[in-house]
Amino acid sequence: MCGIVGHIGPKNSIEVVLEGLKRLEYRGYDSAGVSFKKNGKIEVYKKAGKIENLKGILAKIETNANSCIGHTRWATHGEVNDTNSHPHVSENIAIVHNGIIENAHSLKIEMMKNGVKFKSQTDSEVYMALVNREIEQGNDLFSAITESFKKVEGNSAFVILNKNTNEIWALKRAAPLVCGTSKKTGEVLVSSDPYALAGMVDTIYFPGDNVVCKLDQNSENLITFFEMDGTVSQRFKSKPLEISLESTTKGTYPHFMLKEIYEQPGLIRSLAQHYVHGAGREALNASANIIPSHVHIAACGTASYAGLVIKEFFERINRIPVANELASEFRYREPILRKGEIGLFISQSGETADTLAAQELCQENGLKTLAIVNVEGSTLFRNCDANLLIKAGVEIGVASTKAFTQQALTGRLMSAALNGELKDERKIKIIFNKFSLLAERIDELLLRSEEIKAIAQKVFESKGFFFTGRGKYFPIALEGALKLKEIAYVHAEGYAAGELKHGPIALIDNEMVNIALVGPELLDKTISNVQEIKARKGKIVAFGPENNSDIESISDYYFALKFEGLDELSPLYINVANQLFAYWVARFKGTDIDKPRNLAKSVTVE
Ligand code: F6R
Repeated sequence: MCGIVGHIGPKNSIEVVLEGLKRLEYRGYDSAGVSFKKNGKIEVYKKAGKIENLKGILAKIETNANSCIGHTRWATHGEVNDTNSHPHVSENIAIVHNGIIENAHSLKIEMMKNGVKFKSQTDSEVYMALVNREIEQGNDLFSAITESFKKVEGNSAFVILNKNTNEIWALKRAAPLVCGTSKKTGEVLVSSDPYALAGMVDTIYFPGDNVVCKLDQNSENLITFFEMDGTVSQRFKSKPLEISLESTTKGTYPHFMLKEIYEQPGLIRSLAQHYVHGAGREALNASANIIPSHVHIAACGTASYAGLVIKEFFERINRIPVANELASEFRYREPILRKGEIGLFISQSGETADTLAAQELCQENGLKTLAIVNVEGSTLFRNCDANLLIKAGVEIGVASTKAFTQQALTGRLMSAALNGELKDERKIKIIFNKFSLLAERIDELLLRSEEIKAIAQKVFESKGFFFTGRGKYFPIALEGALKLKEIAYVHAEGYAAGELKHGPIALIDNEMVNIALVGPELLDKTISNVQEIKARKGKIVAFGPENNSDIESISDYYFALKFEGLDELSPLYINVANQLFAYWVARFKGTDIDKPRNLAKSVTVE
């Protein structure tokens, strides 16, 4: 978690860094800070809370600098306050950190015994103290940075500003870090995510682990990479930056989440185009060349629910057994992993620590590993044997919406490739048309957002929400409840409709709402489950098939859906109704929809 940015260049570095931090707020927003040089001294401004708080302070001073580093925090070590905010500064340097120093405690004790004083409770300050100690012992900055880096354990990225020279240094181990340059304007930046660099650079560089990046306006290339022994390094990948400036704004939408919900039909169409008719077909067929005897899916949160949808595809369509597990459990469970099986990892960011650890475990056990991932070049992308990109574009809303849809659909395309559906023109047409139909139905559904808003207005003050669904709608019940919890801060649970009577039904009374996800399959059984809740005075909101008076008549609020022709894709259709429902409940509750409390988008800690 946490977002880091550094800039050197002709533009006002403080403004550039603040803009970058704003875009990285999805990584954490417990506090924000910047550091730059003024009159030969390192200055630091930092404040608990969102970037707006920091901006308020900076607005009162004259701020202009041609180099600056900054940080937006998701607290791990140390409570949320100004002191624990980054950057951490000393006489000589300022540092910002993303990650965790696992041996921080023992390093700190050792240094305290030698008289080092710490201001904050953070692990990050420990790295700064180590660098300082090296400098005080007469070592140059490069060896101070690298020798200290060797001493810290765990996954981390650091960016360092030096008082005496005009460079910024950066290095990382198993944490995201990207540099970018614009030869045209002379700007050079470093960040946790290429997204922060959009509109400012044209070329981006992904350094390898333990590669030291030196950002220097006076060097011809603006940036040089070094190995830890000081030799020039070639261990980096460069490519043009493809993220448009437009994707960094909300456009006419009040929230990124809503914008991302509305992007879904277009994204579904381009996903199908890419994998069925375009350049992605090869990657898809390559992934299908490994025909697994068993698939282990590991992912977290929403991505894990996309995994449940994919499990359904693989088992029903391909008859391949799938174990879908939470990545955070998988790694400690000593799972049985055998040759011929594959590990499939689903992630928007490609940086989720638990998912990365699950991938590593599968790889160590000799399994081929495959990622369904959004961020190209992310750690998961780099570590897996093969990748299928979900082509969702940048997802800024902390609550994942379009990534879920694209993840599940990429899984469907993989199952199609495994099934030979992409080798037969007739079948190609069927699958392509089905994706187009899904996009069309979601377009229609989005036009009816006001209807869902009206339902949300009636029930948003209820005590709790049960999302229920059977079969392929069960994962959607879990996902619907998660969306509501995280953005509206209300208690919600997802249940397999038939399970409710085995305990949770005790909670039903007239203050509880049942969001019944009713597809055309297992209709009668699902209706019976809804009846059971109705009989106990629960309020019924049903998202169900049009022209079905049985379910409509027992619902307090009914939203009719057109399932025909969608077949196995229908869960992704009904899920958009859930997304809008969560969005509108959150609007009525007045919560911070794009940045819900306590959350960060990219969970790079265990
Ligand atoms: C919920 C949400 C999270 C993520 C989870 C995994 O809306 O966004 O549950 O799905 O943290 O993140 P990724 O997909 O980046 O691995």
